Amino acid sequence: MKEPKFLNTYKTDINDQFKDLLNLDKSEFYFEPISDYLIIKNSTKMPKRIRSSIFLEILNGLEKDYNVYTKLACGIEYLHEFSLVHDDIQDKDEIRRGNSTLWKEFGTEKSILLGNIIKIISDTITSDYNSKIKASTAKEVIKTFNTVCINMIEGQYLDIMYEDESDISLEKYLYMISRKTGALMSLSFYLPSILHESDKQDNVLFKTLGNIFGLLFQISDDMLGIWGDPSDTGKSNFSDFENNKKTYPILLAKEKLSKKDNKIFNELSSNDKNTEVKDLTDLMDSYNIKSIIKSDCLKYIECSRDLISKINLQQTSKKNLNELFDYVIERVK
Ligand code: IPE
Ligand code: MG
Ligand code: MG
Repeated sequence: MKEPKFLNTYKTDINDQFKDLLNLDKSEFYFEPISDYLIIKNSTKMPKRIRSSIFLEILNGLEKDYNVYTKLACGIEYLHEFSLVHDDIQDKDEIRRGNSTLWKEFGTEKSILLGNIIKIISDTITSDYNSKIKASTAKEVIKTFNTVCINMIEGQYLDIMYEDESDISLEKYLYMISRKTGALMSLSFYLPSILHESDKQDNVLFKTLGNIFGLLFQISDDMLGIWGDPSDTGKSNFSDFENNKKTYPILLAKEKLSKKDNKIFNELSSNDKNTEVKDLTDLMDSYNIKSIIKSDCLKYIECSRDLISKINLQQTSKKNLNELFDYVIERVK
């Protein structure tokens, strides 16, 4: 399935601003490593900029001049980039976007520090909005970014903690992903309503919609982490097994597989380098794990349709959001 067209509407503006915002003092020690890592030269490996595009699309749908907020959109992207730098260290992943991860290039210790600088770039952008919008709204924006960041960190903490636990319920998993991914993803949905000073009811609708999108996005990320083609995703498809991650497909497999197959599944997963991912996917496919997940996702999508129909937003944006929800579980990268 093709990316919804609206994602392309904002990408150039976002990428241009993103680059400008990195135009820090070139003599600084961090300038080269961070810009070499973040400024992607190969257009096929370009990040989707999905969070910032959703944010701008919703602002547009609320009839606000989105150009005023492109910088803030980059604040969201920098926060996301910061989370990825640390995530790749935590997940010991060597490849992202088809390139070496930052820690693989510079070592863990240095990339923790470089990641912190990326977070500060995000903070600088959000605090800069002080002069452009009403003081109380600017304060609310900073507070919201900080809360989102703490929630994201909580999710990451749980994700790592669960690597050492064998029985994680679906309920715990859903909470964990609502934090590690949902917190930041849903910010893109409700930050426009904070800036627009929408009424409380609309704010709640946007937040709920954003949470659902976050869940779908992570569930599809979990699927791509297994069935995805590394040449499309730019990531490993054995990492989740290797790290004993509690992802939706893995939890579902543990629940559905017979005792005997569960034993084989566990052996294959812990077989590290020698394992063919195909043995694992074949086993999961024989239990239709992927179709079960897809039909679970359709229930969330139905829910999103209902919410979108209730939200005060221009019709074109509603259409774009509906397309986005259909796309997210079908995407290949
Ligand atoms: C990443 O989750 C979440 C954050 C960076 C906060 P994952 O570890 O599941 O995502 P990928 O597959 O590495 O991108
Ligand atoms: Mg990861
Ligand atoms: Mg992770």
